Order: sequence, then structure tokens, then C-alpha cells
Amino acid sequence: MSTPASTSLPTLALTERSHVLVLTGAGISAESGVPTFRAIGGLWEGNRVEDVASPAGFVRDPLLVWRFYSERRAGLADVAPNAAHRALAALEARLGERFLLVTQNVDGLHVGAGSARVIELHGNLMQSRCTVCDRPPFEDRQVYRAGVAPMCGRCKAAGRDAVLRPHIVWFGEAIDGEHLARIERFVRAGGRDLVFVAIGTSGVVYPAAALVDAARSVGGRTWLVNAERSDNADRFDHVVLERAGAAVPALFAAAA
Ligand SMILES: NC(=O)c1ccc[n+]([C@@H]2O[C@H](COP(=O)([O-])OP(=O)(O)OC[C@H]3O[C@@H](n4cnc5c(N)ncnc54)[C@H](O)[C@@H]3O)[C@@H](O)[C@H]2O)c1
Ligand SMILES: [Zn+2]
Repeated sequence: MSTPASTSLPTLALTERSHVLVLTGAGISAESGVPTFRAIGGLWEGNRVEDVASPAGFVRDPLLVWRFYSERRAGLADVAPNAAHRALAALEARLGERFLLVTQNVDGLHVGAGSARVIELHGNLMQSRCTVCDRPPFEDRQVYRAGVAPMCGRCKAAGRDAVLRPHIVWFGEAIDGEHLARIERFVRAGGRDLVFVAIGTSGVVYPAAALVDAARSVGGRTWLVNAERSDNADRFDHVVLERAGAAVPALFAAAA
């Protein structure tokens, strides 16, 4: 790549044709008090990831999985969007259809900040769905800590027992194809006017980590804002090694 990565804060210039695609990860919510995956050493509340975030783990022990996600639901009660979430909502208000936000986070803080064009790639902590019937995922703020795993009311009415599960994409599970198609359409529509900005993500979880390559393949410009060099940092035109809470509002305030 001819453009060298820089660690200062260069100007992100937008025109009336610019299409801005933003990808966020756990780092954007760190300053809201939600721990990142790295910060907890890959162990979640003392549980192995494969026990609490995989389909096989859920089959083995649904109650353990529900206790785990219940703790995380309860933890979100005191959490609020920060300046970086708000700056992205403000940018969307300016750009409208020329803006799309893809998040790996399940904390709902982008929607809480007022973002509407959001793809929650890995699901949402405050939603559940049935493991058997095709009712759409529904809002569920309940915590299930003891007793039995929650059951689907609709299936019960139809005379069968079906356990509910969190609406989360676990390791080994596929991302919704409609989400990927929507992102691809946006990347193509942007073409050389695409500006891709990844914020607070370690660049190791795919397919999100490959969005930078998709943006480059259509001739778009690429930015990374992260507290440290992430695994895929070499594939970005600009690398801003700062915390999101300060850097994201500054980056877009300067973007005329
Ligand atoms: N908030 C959430 O919903 C949440 C939290 C933890 C994990 N997860 C899930 O775990 C997986 C982890 O992947 P990931 O890449 O999103 O997270 P990650 O924890 O692997 O990486 C977070 C990155 O953010 C950086 N970072 C930390 N604080 C920052 C700050 N204040 N400003 C900017 N950058 C900061 C870190 O240096 C790190 O590179 C994802 O699939 C995600 O769904 C979600
Ligand atoms: Zn059901």
C-alpha cells in the first residue's frame, strides 16, 4: 500500500457524495463501562467462551448459559451511551441514507444513542428467540438466574416444549445473510466515495474484520480508531491510536 499509516489525527474530509460505513466493536463501549472481550482475558465471569457462547455449550447446559447472559443483562442496567456513540448518531442525522453503522456489540448502546441505520451483526443482549418456532426475536429484559431455562409461550400454546435462547450469534454460528447483503449493497453504492471507519475492534473476529478489505476493493478510504494497533491495522489507510470517546467526536467534527 502506498499510503503510509499515520498515528496523528488527519482530517477526515467528507463531500456530499461520501458514503460512510462504520464498524464498531467492544472498544467503543469501554468508556461506558462495558468490559471488552480482551479486558476480561477471554474468560467471561470465569466461564470458558465455548461453554457460554457456543451452540454446543447451550445444549450441554442451557441454565449456565442463561445465568451468564442474565448477569450481562443486569450489568447493562447502569450503562449509558458515551460521546462516541452520540457522535455517530449525529453523523447519521447529517448523512441519512449515505450512512450505515455495523456493530459487533450486543449492548444496544448505538440505538440508545439515537442511531437508526444500525446492523447488530452479533445480535442483542436484550432480545431472546425460540429454539424451535420461527417467531421473530423479541425484546426480553428478564434475568433468569435459577430454576429452569425459560420456555417459549407460543410453542407451549401449540402443545410442545421449546426452550428460549438469547438472540446472540455464538462462535461457530453464521451471520444473517440479509445483514451481509445489505452491507455489500452499501459498499458497492459508495464505491470510490466510500469512507470506512472501524472503531474499537481488535480485528480478529470475522467477517467483520474483513470489511476493511471490501472497502478497499471498491476504492474506498479506510480509517481505524482504536486504543492499540489491532490485528488488521496494516490494512487501513489511516490508523488513529486513541480512545474512542475523544477521537470519534473530534474526527467527525472536523469532517466538513
Ligand atoms: N459491548 C459489547 O456488546 C461487547 C463486549 C465484549 C465483547 N463483545 C463481543 O465479543 C467479540 C469481541 O470482538 P471486538 O473486536 O468487538 O472486541 P475486543 O474486546 O476483542 O477488542 C476491543 C478493542 O477495542 C480497543 N479498545 C479498548 N478500549 C478502547 C477505547 N476506549 N477506545 C477505542 N478502542 C478501545 C482494544 O484495544 C481492543 O483492540 C465481539 O464479537 C463482540 O460481539 C461485545
Ligand atoms: Zn417457540
